[in-house]
Amino acid sequence: MEITTITLESNSIKIEATPNSRLPGVDLNNVKFGSVFSDHMFILDYEEGKWQNPRIVPYGDILMSPSISGLHYGQSIFEGMKAFRDKEGNIHIFRPILHLKRLNKSAARLCMPEVPEDIFLKALEKLISLDHRWVPKLPGALYIRPILFAVDEFLGMRPSLNYKLIIFTLPVNVYYNEPLKVYVTTEYVRASSGGIGYVKAAGNYARSLLINKIAQSKGCNVVLWLDAKERKFIEEYSTMNAFFVIDDFVVTPRLTGTILEGVTRDSVIQLLKAEGYRIYEREIAIDEVLDMLEKGHLKEAFGTGTAAVMAPVQEIHYRDNVYKLSDHRTWKIFPTIEKKLADIRALVVPDTFNWLHHVSI
Ligand code: COI
Repeated sequence: MEITTITLESNSIKIEATPNSRLPGVDLNNVKFGSVFSDHMFILDYEEGKWQNPRIVPYGDILMSPSISGLHYGQSIFEGMKAFRDKEGNIHIFRPILHLKRLNKSAARLCMPEVPEDIFLKALEKLISLDHRWVPKLPGALYIRPILFAVDEFLGMRPSLNYKLIIFTLPVNVYYNEPLKVYVTTEYVRASSGGIGYVKAAGNYARSLLINKIAQSKGCNVVLWLDAKERKFIEEYSTMNAFFVIDDFVVTPRLTGTILEGVTRDSVIQLLKAEGYRIYEREIAIDEVLDMLEKGHLKEAFGTGTAAVMAPVQEIHYRDNVYKLSDHRTWKIFPTIEKKLADIRALVVPDTFNWLHHVSI
């Protein structure tokens, strides 16, 4: 699909600011994840082959026809990123360009138009600057949710000609309040080779819901997917990428197109390398993990994701057996990397990786 880039002066985004902020009724450090939204949202239309009409309006309902193709045929993708306040109170977005690259990779796979970098960054800067008072103090963050979906009023199998990009934000705190109790499913699969496993598509999350419900009924708070073919190799958690510490090295499933290319995953890999740890991106079978656990070699296991950041595993439920890990408060690598990441975000240490994108207020 041909993309026309429009270069925006920052003031060419039309801004309709709300006269009635909802912020006074909100306790930023006590919101339930995903339930309270900031005052404004950014909207951009893709029409007649180009992106146009960038605007920021009060967050609220949008009018849609029931025939829009995004609702029927799944041309609907999203991103999840975060903005943080550093120790001085300045606001930074964490790795927005890598998130945009992933959004555009998702878009390309589903025949959707890619979003130009200049529009995306200006939209984020304007939106977050307008709603800067919504950014909580650490360890809270402002979660940023771009959604891109098809809006042709048309039923039939062809890519839509028209799309909407909407970006809205929400103050968030921890995603998992407790260590992970993992349910390994051999019954259902998330993605297969050649499919859309690496795409942050709405449908990839819908397919988790049923097995998540089953996992919850067994006392677990996350699902671990295995590969579609042999139901043997670890893919990812329902909300995160997976890492395992075996003795003094770390293993994470390599990117084969069936798992999400996590931004936190990439950051953790870079931090592990910088700290001198050996990290292998390779196939890892559930049997290897459990065998290592039983022999005392599996020292730590954790998930990484934008929402969850880093979450330690306490139990693995597999084929009616429950395998317990040691108490994560005694671990070494997980807390070291968690602290390194938090310190960079708070700018307690310099951002040597160049991960933070400053937002002027
Ligand atoms: C994220 O980690 O940002 C996600 O999109 C996962 C979602 C379950 C909140």
